[in-house]
Amino acid sequence: MSPTRRGVLAGALALAACDRAPAAAVAGPDLAPLRASAPFPVGVSGMTAQLDDPAWAGLVTRHFGRLTPEWEMKLEAFLPGDDDRLDFSRADRLVAWAEARGLAVFGHTLVWYAQTAPRFEQLDGAGARFERAYADYVTAIARRYRGRVVGWDVVNEPIRDDGEGLRESLWSRNLRPVEHIRLAFDLARAADPDAVLFLNDYNLETSPAKRRAFLRLAETLLAAGAPLGGLGTQTHVDCALPAGAIRAAVADLAALGLPVHVSEIDVSTDRGDPARQPAIYAEAVEAMAALPPAQRFGVTVWGARDGDSWLRRGGEHNPLRPDRPLLFDDAARPKPAASAFAAALP
Ligand code: XIL
Repeated sequence: MSPTRRGVLAGALALAACDRAPAAAVAGPDLAPLRASAPFPVGVSGMTAQLDDPAWAGLVTRHFGRLTPEWEMKLEAFLPGDDDRLDFSRADRLVAWAEARGLAVFGHTLVWYAQTAPRFEQLDGAGARFERAYADYVTAIARRYRGRVVGWDVVNEPIRDDGEGLRESLWSRNLRPVEHIRLAFDLARAADPDAVLFLNDYNLETSPAKRRAFLRLAETLLAAGAPLGGLGTQTHVDCALPAGAIRAAVADLAALGLPVHVSEIDVSTDRGDPARQPAIYAEAVEAMAALPPAQRFGVTVWGARDGDSWLRRGGEHNPLRPDRPLLFDDAARPKPAASAFAAALP
């Protein structure tokens, strides 16, 4: 996650108050379900706090066919206390909600530098005991949702922001930089033989160095026989993004022959010309649709309505000029971005 957004990372928060969308906000015509005409899965992130909001639930079940828990399948949610007791309640609720409505679920994320827990901090430097705890955790989570998730971000954001190699973390410090990643993939595969196992990162559209390092890691894992099954590019971008950047990133990732997931797209209006937002979403759709069918893992939008966005919940958020990064406005109305997303579908 980009440093300027790190302020946003503050654990699961209650949803931001939905700003009243200005009257000028687009109130586009009712849009045909995006998932109906897409040649790939159209996903959205969600949190348990949204499940009882009829406007959110209606929008999500109409347009999206896959749900990525935004927080509930992260380590903070599964290990909320100081001990090793796993709390599955939040993830179980989201998965059950999705299943009851025919939505697939994508697991996010088993291993992430940004989240640890007292359970692991207490074992820092403890060698075999740390490794056992790591193995037990990844296995327990992947096993519980076996058959209930279509895939996992096994390791999230492994590459340094400057692209100069792998990020240092509690995991890499105790289990070695590449080895802890390889181990996580092996453990996830052993626990769930069918889930598609992803490596996922951000700024792959805007940092050639980071993209090269990400692809080098993927090639290293594949060469070592790791069960790497897909590559995710988060695509947290803004309206200043140059045309073609998403297309180039998706094509580079696809060159390895694995499924590609545009895994967390949002297009912040905080930078650049907001009028560029529709074309940027359209480019992501076109880039995904241009892949061979077997590599079209899908496009997942990181939130349904602008007011649901994580970008509205951080220190960067300016309530006087709220970010409008998503496809639907605060009142769940389709924006030009949603119309462009739909129009770009083949
Ligand atoms: C964010 C969620 O959107 C927030 O609700 C949560 O508080 C912090 O994490 N890249 C990722 C996601 O892989 O897990 C992050 O999600 C956004 C950046």
